[in-house]
Amino acid sequence: MKAELEKLRGLHWDGEYLHFIEQTLLPHQEKWIMTDDWQVVVDAIRRLAIRGAPAIGVAGAFAAVLAFKKNKDDLNAWNEILEKIEHARPTAVNLSWAVGKIKQSSAGQVGDNLLNTITSQAEQIAIEDEDNCLKIAENGLEVIPPGSRALTHCNAGALVSYGIGTAVGVLRQAFEKGLLKEVYACEARPLGQGARLTMWELHRLKIPCTLLCDSAAGRLMQEGKIDLVMVGADRIAMNGDTANKIGTFNLAVLANRFSIPFYVAAPITTFDLKAKSGENIPIEYRHPEEVRKYGHYKTTEGQSRVYNPAFDITPGELITGIISENNIAYPPYNFS
Ligand code: MRU
Repeated sequence: MKAELEKLRGLHWDGEYLHFIEQTLLPHQEKWIMTDDWQVVVDAIRRLAIRGAPAIGVAGAFAAVLAFKKNKDDLNAWNEILEKIEHARPTAVNLSWAVGKIKQSSAGQVGDNLLNTITSQAEQIAIEDEDNCLKIAENGLEVIPPGSRALTHCNAGALVSYGIGTAVGVLRQAFEKGLLKEVYACEARPLGQGARLTMWELHRLKIPCTLLCDSAAGRLMQEGKIDLVMVGADRIAMNGDTANKIGTFNLAVLANRFSIPFYVAAPITTFDLKAKSGENIPIEYRHPEEVRKYGHYKTTEGQSRVYNPAFDITPGELITGIISENNIAYPPYNFS
């Protein structure tokens, strides 16, 4: 799997520069950006050029390292930048978790010692993410019966991590083991992460795949074409309530209606010990223009009022199992 991994990646640290694929241009253009500027990284996270919960955690950690290099003599300035990095996006807890790890590891140090320590810490976050994705994929095999047809939402593959990804990582491993027959991918309006990114990944992995509009999921299930749903997560509360791309909740309700198992795959870095339930998870609301347009094409009048939550909360009771690098947890969830 490791050699295969090299072929599909969205993020790479070379010891000095962070390299990332400009996800907003996919699938039409595969453009890599190389930077040693923390502001470029934060901007990329905000623009969704780097996106997906584990990936923004890893990128945030390297942004903190890059910021320190430019502010070695001014710890106050560096701490202010850490706040900016941490708050680049609010819902995926991996970002604040990673910045928290950097802060912890830097305690009591200055200068080059501090730089060495936080660089090692960021590299460890990246390497552990890569390993965790592989373990999630192995653990997830248990829930994929032979011949499965899976539905996924948004993009939870290699692009969202430093490894093979979460939900798509499980599906990829299941395909390699001959368990998975095909994947259906929801488009994930408004920004089309399913259409643009998941399909791009699945095509490269040569996994049979079919794209559908988000609104076609009910019909697809009604036709008996789906055996399981597998999605990623941006934040998981202690009772199993899970934030993920807007529309995930709809799929969980539909899956429940048709008695189709609904799984979430995520590393422990996506679990929020401080969130008792979904009510404690902040939801990001994004710019109205994302909904007023389809790509560059305007679909409505400029004055149309828009509702644009980037994420929703799926109640734990609708989730059949939560797959992490440690195990598969089943309801009733109590992660504390
Ligand atoms: O707004 P995005 O594209 O960053 O949303 C990403 C998702 O919702 C993914 O499904 C989520 O991060 C899980 S993938 C590890």
